[in-house]
Parts: sequence; structure tokens; C-alpha cells
Amino acid sequence: MSKSVLLIIGGGIAAYKSLELIRLLKGRGIGVRAIMTKAAEEFVTPLSVASLSGEKVHSALFNLTDEVEMGHIELSRSADLVVVVPATADLMAKMAQGLASDLASTTLLATDKPVLIAPAMNVRMWLHAATRRNLATLKSDGIQVVGPNEGDMACGEFGPGRMAEPVEILNAIENLLSAAVKPLAGRKILITAGPTREPIDPVRYISNHSSGKQGYAIAEAAARMGADVTLVSGPVSLPKPFGVKVLDVQTADDMLAACEKALPVDVAIFAAAVADWKMAKPAAEKIKKSKPGETPSLSFVENPDILKTIATGNMRPQMVVGFAAETENVIDYAKIKLGKKSCDLIIANDVSEGVFGTNRNAVHLVSKSGVESWPEMSKAEVASRLLAHIAGLLK
Ligand code: C5P
Repeated sequence: MSKSVLLIIGGGIAAYKSLELIRLLKGRGIGVRAIMTKAAEEFVTPLSVASLSGEKVHSALFNLTDEVEMGHIELSRSADLVVVVPATADLMAKMAQGLASDLASTTLLATDKPVLIAPAMNVRMWLHAATRRNLATLKSDGIQVVGPNEGDMACGEFGPGRMAEPVEILNAIENLLSAAVKPLAGRKILITAGPTREPIDPVRYISNHSSGKQGYAIAEAAARMGADVTLVSGPVSLPKPFGVKVLDVQTADDMLAACEKALPVDVAIFAAAVADWKMAKPAAEKIKKSKPGETPSLSFVENPDILKTIATGNMRPQMVVGFAAETENVIDYAKIKLGKKSCDLIIANDVSEGVFGTNRNAVHLVSKSGVESWPEMSKAEVASRLLAHIAGLLK
């Protein structure tokens, strides 16, 4: 069944991006019905919105013809999701207060559908205590929020307040629409995330900079889409994702054991940055400094390759997905890894561009059927899109 959104266009300079969003939504087969505020009409014309959406645009609360055709209450429930683009400071304040002073705010108060807002405003307005308060209220009311991003603003200032790009809003919309249908219901998914920590002695270890953010985002999105998720996590400082079974581990050996225990699963996604080596024999006691200038020599052995072990084992999941973090020849190395590790899919990313620890990622999907490159987006969006892709392949 095709999905539809009710787009509420607010009056801000970012309103022009709503046109691109409508185009993207239509391209995905998602129906769009739009409401424009009075102020929005100062930025984009109802004619452009109507032409792109292929639907009549609604703007007046007291319009007899409109009420006869479709009452405002019916309009508020006509779509699967209500999206506010841009959510101006004024619209957010009205929503937080529960005001119903025009068609947009009345619809937002009357709807029984999930609501997503894409805030956009001047940085000072965004950081103002009133907006902070309103945002907190809206979040606790269950309103979903995408963006804003930090960047150059139309007013010449720089900072948070710039509306999320249309493609990011599209991802958030698709995420929320697919969450409602739970395309991974009944599927068991194993995910590894974070670094591993290999002890040198009881107080020291070797590890890496992995934050675990991408793997955690995948676990969260998988659970939202209805999967039964086990997340095997190295040491990270992230909150436990909602609805996910988390197994905390330290070393690669522990991680492998936890993964094997979680089998059988339908899908395994290996996002952990597993240390390649461990100490041949970790010291039982703290290694002491001996003479000045003398350094200990450490001897390493290879860690088990968790991904390869599971992908070539007799309980191989239907789909095995690996990650390839590289600093050069990203796609070529990913192609080699695909075969070497018996994966169905490799998510390749260039970590020379500062991906570790950040919230954004630009990835390439490498499989036997070719390479698909995605634009840079948030790790949460990579997660949702990846799982939607996997759900499609599993069908
Ligand atoms: O070989 P490389 O570390 O680049 O491979 C990366 C992929 O393999 C990731 O999916 C990672 O989670 C997985 N891996 C693993 N066990 C290892 C090393 C890597 O599961 N020991």
C-alpha cells in the first residue's frame, strides 16, 4: 500500500527546500498533500507546491469550499505521517503550547498521526531558552526531530539552525514510515559494535578509536523495524539502544564467543573495529619499569577474525554484512574483503576523513552485484537505509 505524508510548510527562508523534498518524496512513490502557513507563501508559491505535489494546497482554516471537500480534522488524519518543513521558531512555539490559530497549527493539534519536524531558524533563535524549552516539550510529546545542522545560514551567521537537507528529511520520513510496518519483524539480527580491548597486563591494553556509534545506530534501527536484535558490544560510552539485547565484551575472543552463542540468526552485521592482534601472553602482573631507557618488547599473535569465522561456519546466517574502514583505495579493498571474508555485503567507508567518533558517515555498498555509493548522511540515516536495503534483499 502506498504511503503518504501531510507536509506543513512553515514561513522561513528554508521553505524553498520543501519543493525539493516534495520532488524526492514523489520520486519514492510517497504521496504528498501540503498545508502552507501565511508566512510560507511569502517564500514559495502555492502554485509551485501544487504543481510538484499534484494536489491542491491548503492554507485557510475558515474556507467553506475546503471544509466541504475535506474538513481540517480529516485532513490532519489523511496521511501516514505529518512533516513540518521548515519548523520555524513560531510553529514550534505554537505546537508546544497547543495553539490552534491557523490551519497548520490546528492540524498539528488535531492529528493522531506521528509528527516529524525539521527545525530551521537563526542560530540565536535556536539557542534561545524559549526554543530550548519548546524543543524539550515537543520531544517529550513524542514529536520526532530531524536536524538542524550546523553551517552557514542565509542570515550570514554560522552555527546550528540550518535545516536538514531534503535527502536527510526524506531518510527520516522513510525511516518513520517503514518503522510503522516493521519490515524486519520475525528476523533475528546479530550486530557487533565498538572497539575491542586487548590486555597487555592487568592495567594496560591496546585498542582503537571506534566509538561504536554506527553499530549502535544499526542496532537501534533494526529494533525499531521489528527485528530481534543482539548487540555484542566492545567498551563504548553510549546509552544502551532501546529494545536491544546487549552483550558487553572486552576482547576479540570474548566477542567471538558471544557471537557464537547468539547463533542462529538471519542476519549478522559486523560493525566492530576488532583489534587485529592481541598479546601472545598478557602479563599476569603489571609490567614494571626496570632500568631507565629500557623498554619492554611486546609479542603479539593474531586475533580470530570474527566475521570470517561466522561467515564460513556451519551456522552461517542467511546474510553476512561486514564493514571496511580504509584510508585509501576504499572500494578496491572492500571488493577483495568481500571474497576473502565470504560476506554478502561490505559497507566501505573512508576513515581518513574523520569518521571515527563523529555522527556522520559516507559509505559505499559493495556486493557481487556492484557498488552503490551513498551521499554523506548521519550514522542514524546510514543505519535506517542499510536495514531497509537488507529487508528488501531478505524478501
Ligand atoms: O579485516 P578488516 O579488519 O578490515 O575487516 C573489517 C571487517 O571484519 C569488519 O566488518 C569487522 O567487524 C570484521 N572483523 C572481525 N574480526 C576481526 C577483524 C575484523 O569480525 N578480527
